[in-house]
Amino acid sequence: FSPALVDSFQRKHDYLRISLTERCNLRCFYCMPSEGVELSPASHILTDDEVIRLATLFVSSGVTKIRLTGGRLNELRPLGLESIGMTTNGLALHRRLNSYVENGLTHLNLSLDTLDPFKFEIMTRRPGHDAVLRSLDAALNSPGLRSVKLNVVVIKGLNDSEVLDFVKLTADRNISVRFIEFMPFTGNKWDKAKMIPSSQLLDQISRKYPNITRAPDELNDTARSWRIPGHVGSIGFISSMSDHFCSSCNRLRLTADGQIKVCLFDAKEVSLRDEMRRGVSDANLQDLIGQAVQGKQEKHAGMEDINVTTNRPMILIGDTQPRM
Ligand code: GTP
Ligand code: 5AD
Ligand code: SF4
Repeated sequence: FSPALVDSFQRKHDYLRISLTERCNLRCFYCMPSEGVELSPASHILTDDEVIRLATLFVSSGVTKIRLTGGRLNELRPLGLESIGMTTNGLALHRRLNSYVENGLTHLNLSLDTLDPFKFEIMTRRPGHDAVLRSLDAALNSPGLRSVKLNVVVIKGLNDSEVLDFVKLTADRNISVRFIEFMPFTGNKWDKAKMIPSSQLLDQISRKYPNITRAPDELNDTARSWRIPGHVGSIGFISSMSDHFCSSCNRLRLTADGQIKVCLFDAKEVSLRDEMRRGVSDANLQDLIGQAVQGKQEKHAGMEDINVTTNRPMILIGDTQPRM
């Protein structure tokens, strides 16, 4: 494992999240303003060759897991990764899933915040609920996938009344439903009053299912997992705000416009794109990555002090999944 990917708190970064596009066919309010965001000029977006060069360098430095937002996975196949994950809004996934699985996709995370088509249009400001449900079915029926997770960002007064309906999905589906705390990013009008701490959701679920039990987490997992006896699937809580997991963070991010971002909430970025286009060697590129990793903070500033003016909107960080 290369020292370039070990930070000053001894965290080993073996998980790379690569964003391949800034475009999206939805307008989820927690991800971007209603008018959308100003996109980077096309020339600033990494080319396939640049993405492959960087992915190859990260893998040779110790990365074993890559999660993508955007298609084009076939290029990652030769890298011999333990897993290739994708996070997607699922709008077009039902049509493309087979080809993704053929190209090496092993882990799928699908964003779906509501089971109600009307609320879907309120939260995403676009139609498409049917298509996401179709994608969910396709994913659950795909023998090639090792894991299917459903991401539910819980917002007070919007979808918090549906928590038990989502829990019910785990009764007979091999799925992990993960309730995510609303996080602050540039332009998303974050409001603490709309963020429901996971502990409150767990209380609500435990009242209906008193036998719910804590389940083992995967290594470096964002979610704390629980199981209801008799249910095929599981439940997870991603509590980045009320109980962060920064001390076990193993993630680095590459934005679609070629910046390395060492933390979701840290505005400091290093442009690998510009250096690559200046003809930098792999060794120098690795030094730059190492410097960025060394600058990683121990933890985020805390929900009330996270700086949302200098950071990016979620869509431009690229954790979310556009255009699928
Ligand atoms: P796997 O563990 O690979 O299944 O994925 P994940 O849970 O990291 O990824 P996913 O893309 O499904 O994101 C789920 C939620 O976790 C989203 O709200 C992400 O923004 C959040 N998340 C992912 N990585 C981090 C991280 O490094 N820090 C924080 N605070 N949140 C994260
Ligand atoms: N807070 C919490 N989760 C968010 N996501 C996007 N924006 C936010 C936010 N502000 C989620 C998406 C997607 C995942 C990658 O990140 O719903 O499922
Ligand atoms: Fe919604 Fe994801 Fe698109 Fe953002 S990227 S608008 S969270 S579907």
